[in-house]
Amino acid sequence: EQARIGVTGLAVMGRNLARNLARHGHPVAVHNRTSARTKALVEEFGDEGTFLPAETPEQFVASLERPRRLVVMVKAGAPTDAVIEEFAPLLEPGDMIVDGGNAHFADTRRREASLRERGVHFVGTGISGGEEGALNGPSIMPGGSPESYAALGPLLEDISAKVDGTPCCTHVGPDGAGHFVKMVHNGIEYSDMQLIAESYDLLRRAAGLAPAEIAEVFRTWNTGRLESYLIEITAEVLAHTDAATGGPFVDVVLDQAEQKGTGRWTVQTALDLGVPVGGIAEAVFARSVSGHADLREASRNLPGPARTGGGAGAGFADAVEKALYASKIVAYAQGFHEIQAGSAEYGWNIDPGAMATIWRDGCIIRARFLDRIRAAYEADPHTPTLLTDAHFAEAVGDAQDAWREVVVTATRLGIPAPGFATALAYYDSLRADRLPAALTQGQRDFFGAHTYRRVDRDGSFHTLWGGDRTEVGT
Ligand code: 6PG
Repeated sequence: EQARIGVTGLAVMGRNLARNLARHGHPVAVHNRTSARTKALVEEFGDEGTFLPAETPEQFVASLERPRRLVVMVKAGAPTDAVIEEFAPLLEPGDMIVDGGNAHFADTRRREASLRERGVHFVGTGISGGEEGALNGPSIMPGGSPESYAALGPLLEDISAKVDGTPCCTHVGPDGAGHFVKMVHNGIEYSDMQLIAESYDLLRRAAGLAPAEIAEVFRTWNTGRLESYLIEITAEVLAHTDAATGGPFVDVVLDQAEQKGTGRWTVQTALDLGVPVGGIAEAVFARSVSGHADLREASRNLPGPARTGGGAGAGFADAVEKALYASKIVAYAQGFHEIQAGSAEYGWNIDPGAMATIWRDGCIIRARFLDRIRAAYEADPHTPTLLTDAHFAEAVGDAQDAWREVVVTATRLGIPAPGFATALAYYDSLRADRLPAALTQGQRDFFGAHTYRRVDRDGSFHTLWGGDRTEVGT
């Protein structure tokens, strides 16, 4: 018997993906650099479906039906290149290598181009949902050629999460498009998490609620428009008690957030594309600030308010809910702007509404809200920003007094809320009739003769600042 698809790299994500395929009736070849893992998988889960264990790359490739579909689930970066180098010489034109790791889209573009020369399709694929998603239905974001999707799509759609029968998997676009979209997904994930963290901090410090009480607040929110996986798990984490101390679990965790890099890439890429993603950037920087233990220690006694409340009365939790919803809309508006800019830059032709559709379930940012985004793009596929969609504009309009109040409260009490604050500043920047960028242009012209444009005439102009200050056209 031949395998329909193969998975090499059997750490937890690879193993669960292979099990998911087998459970759906697809015979799956399995391989790992050290074969103990392969054996363990077959021993433990062999009865879930048909696994074809292989000890060597040659055996593995020989067990795959043609065209071969080979899924690589190893660490992003050099390990991925090493595996590709190992397997590519064993493949034939028309075969496919699927990279299901969190690769940088630029690496994916490079790998796709180099394998294309050998006639091999390289399919950089975002997979979201963690261990549990990989096993029970992730959100899958495959890039690569349309031919490769024709051969691979049905399999991937079969094992993906579904919303009313619609798979959370679609062909994103050529070469690096899938990994690009996964990267932005993670950037949005960072932003979502930061906004939730700020909400918790405000409820705790400004409103004086205990973690278990805040868990209840999040549970309530999870029955409304904020319903999402991240809100749900937030309630779980906050309600959890530490066995050793008997106190809230959240109080025994070191407050230094780590990151593996996809959020940072989202921001770096946005800088290159010239897309303002302040919400995502602040989320990355907030993790970074938290990690600078020495800097924080040295600054501990700087003067400022006591960071505890009193000021926040009844209704504060509702105000935070509104600030969270409005800021979340901004975060997604910024993320989708980046997707559209990347798509234009690289000629990917990504359908943003389709991305919202496949993020509705399976992935870490899955949320009721994404159906709204899908609807927004359905109503106007070319909308320049989600903020002007009728539903979102109304929601933010309704929320904004509370949103401003929450930012004011945070500022007054000395509680850092960079996510809320930057989201509000973005909103106000977009709606401003005039921005002080005019002054910036004047300064640039003053010190560097960089020129400016005028509101009343076409062309570029320069004022002779060092001379008689007349204006010259350039
Ligand atoms: C997902 C997640 C996942 C990522 C973690 C870790 O979509 O399933 O995004 O791919 O590994 O979120 O990210 P950080 O370690 O950078 O927080």
